[in-house]
Amino acid sequence: MESKKRFHIVDEKVDAYIKASLAPYSGLLGQVQSDAEARGIPVISHETARLLEIISRAIKPKRILEIGTAVGFTSLLMVGSLSAYGKIDTIEVDPEMAAEADGNFKKAGCSGKINLIVGDAADVLENIDKQYDFIFIDAAKGQYCRYYELCSGMVAANGMIFTDNVLYRGMTASGAKINRRQQLLVKRLREFISTAVADKRFLTDVLSIGDGVCISYRK
Ligand SMILES: C[S@@+](CC[C@H](N)C(=O)[O-])C[C@H]1O[C@@H](n2cnc3c(N)ncnc32)[C@H](O)[C@@H]1O
Repeated sequence: MESKKRFHIVDEKVDAYIKASLAPYSGLLGQVQSDAEARGIPVISHETARLLEIISRAIKPKRILEIGTAVGFTSLLMVGSLSAYGKIDTIEVDPEMAAEADGNFKKAGCSGKINLIVGDAADVLENIDKQYDFIFIDAAKGQYCRYYELCSGMVAANGMIFTDNVLYRGMTASGAKINRRQQLLVKRLREFISTAVADKRFLTDVLSIGDGVCISYRK
């Protein structure tokens, strides 16, 4: 499966070794992850999920904002990192995905800690007036600049924005021939990375893990 990918961010053997070395998720979290992967629902890669979990636990956020819920795997992953009385706001545009996520939150007994908002993320963000300790961006790649513009001002001091898929299977960095739609996404992802890097309020790095992660720490 991996070898059929057109672009790789890291050497395939290194990738396979890391994937095989990491402990799997168990219980409901493991079920939600494997079920989503089996059905082709785009969830975060396993190694990026671990990084997200580690960073989120280190921050112990009171408030998390997630853009792109899908079936709720990463919401369930991050809920364990919340500090006392903490909450996650998570936004999903697809009502069917949202309904499934809602079912998973109920199964996990954590609906009270996760506020699921169904709607287009940019529209929803325009109407949010809150501060967050941790923001996870994982929705429409072509909209990342817009999401950043709308949510970067919501990050509390010492908080972080964690954005997935910024290297887009390596295409963001490679000069390989790609189709028009991909070219546009690559252009937008490059704009997103330059915007984040140039933003003096944050310290930003780009990591070649999974599909590429951009982390921005609010000074
Ligand atoms: C990569 S998936 C999210 C995966 C999830 N964070 C996880 O790893 O468990 C991206 C999700 O963003 C949603 N999405 C796409 N465009 C969106 C938009 N404009 N507003 C809100 N959600 C959007 C998609 O429907 C999809 O479920």
